[in-house]
Amino acid sequence: MNFVRLGLLKRSLNMECRNLHLLKKLAYINGEWVNANSNSVFPVINPADDKVIAEIPDMDATDAKIAVDAATNAFKTWKDTSAKERSSILRKWFDVCQKNSDHLADIITAEAGKPLGESKGEVAYGNSFLEWFADTARHINGEVIPSPWPNKQIIVTRQPLGVVSIITPWNFPFAMITRKVGALMAAGCTCVIKPAEDTPLTALAAVQLAEEAGVPKGVINVITSSRKNAPAVGKVLCEDPNVGCISFTGSTHVGKILYGMAAKGIKRVALELGGNAPFIVFSSADISHAVEQAMLAKFRNNGQACVGANRFLIHEEMFDKFVDCFKYKISQKCILGPGHKEGVTCGPLINMEQIKKVSGLVNDAVKKGAKVMIGGQVAKDIGEKFYESTVLVDVKPDMEIYGEEIFGPVAVCLKFKTENEALEIANSTRSGLAAYVFTSDLGQAFRMSRQLEFGMVAINDGVLSAAEPPFGGIKESGIGREGSKHGAEEYTDLKYTLFSALDK
Ligand code: SIN
Repeated sequence: MNFVRLGLLKRSLNMECRNLHLLKKLAYINGEWVNANSNSVFPVINPADDKVIAEIPDMDATDAKIAVDAATNAFKTWKDTSAKERSSILRKWFDVCQKNSDHLADIITAEAGKPLGESKGEVAYGNSFLEWFADTARHINGEVIPSPWPNKQIIVTRQPLGVVSIITPWNFPFAMITRKVGALMAAGCTCVIKPAEDTPLTALAAVQLAEEAGVPKGVINVITSSRKNAPAVGKVLCEDPNVGCISFTGSTHVGKILYGMAAKGIKRVALELGGNAPFIVFSSADISHAVEQAMLAKFRNNGQACVGANRFLIHEEMFDKFVDCFKYKISQKCILGPGHKEGVTCGPLINMEQIKKVSGLVNDAVKKGAKVMIGGQVAKDIGEKFYESTVLVDVKPDMEIYGEEIFGPVAVCLKFKTENEALEIANSTRSGLAAYVFTSDLGQAFRMSRQLEFGMVAINDGVLSAAEPPFGGIKESGIGREGSKHGAEEYTDLKYTLFSALDK
């Protein structure tokens, strides 16, 4: 790198850092802030302007092994802490995160590109998991089962399963950590977190606050690595014999690879993978409510959410009206720009790979006859990663976008005539995460809830995520549940103990 470029890089680094109070540039292993064993670093980029926010350790398999060993050692004592103590530490972590909400949000906006208001929303959502699991820690109960023998007693307890490898995505860089780590800590497990290459700074900020809250050393470890080192790190995190579970949120493609590696050691997995959510509007629905909710279901994080509505199935009687209202709302509410700018509601996509994917899907559809009602291209006047909020109609099964998870701000609107036809289209996918249904017919609502092949169904709502219900999918959308009491139970093993000879 020449001196002029180095100077420019340093200036942009300094400008970004001034406002980021929780910025940490080191990884965290066994309660220490550390460099990579190799001393390598990689840059974290602001997707809105491509400026380098920080350079952080580019760790490899050696560092991953050290982190797993630290978590293994910490597990020996953490597993025997009382539920009350774990609850109290989680509560303190929640309090510290609450106090630092604005600082956490600044980091999310800097590295993930979200509008500041949305980043604050993610922090509130993420914190709700710490609060929930602080309470849940004290309610991970066992069972006493009536035995078939008069002189014996059957007791079932839940025991923490050990070290958990956590691999988190870039689209919710804070909430996906608290949802997993809150649950596993409540259960008595320890962990190694490998945050997404695009958004590691939020993880480092969250762990800085965990340290402040008194989480003992080794209970949470964070290793950071670039895309280049990610496969080697992932292999250690999945295959080290001391790891008991791999908890991953991300694409179905990567989930399958991790599942394959976990299978070698018969490890537990918790996989929250891609969705392809249908958003079904029946003719009895309140159309203005459906459109309001469609805005939330489609444009939350600019379409980059696995529960985001992917296919809008609209009854033919209301199709034109729905599309017109949707288009109008988008023109009023979707304001593209950098996340820290006042008034912006839609930020950039995370990287050029996403831009290429979204543009490719739209271009293929248009070439094969789809019609763009609004949007349809990169907003080059703002920047190369800003994609216009888009509505497509006349989409047909031969177009790639018909069956793919878009993961961007593009709404595909399809017409249907009958309930059976809507169900058939909705279920014609290997994904099964979330589905949304709008109807005022109670019987139809129950039929949909029963027959949609998805792990989560929202009736007359466009947002279903919260700490209290079990979040997760079926089919290729994943295994296991997060949030709720089930989220903590994922990180426990059931142990059956037989107490015999009670008459002796
Ligand atoms: C995700 O998109 O990965 C998670 C979204 C949510 O928790 O609502």
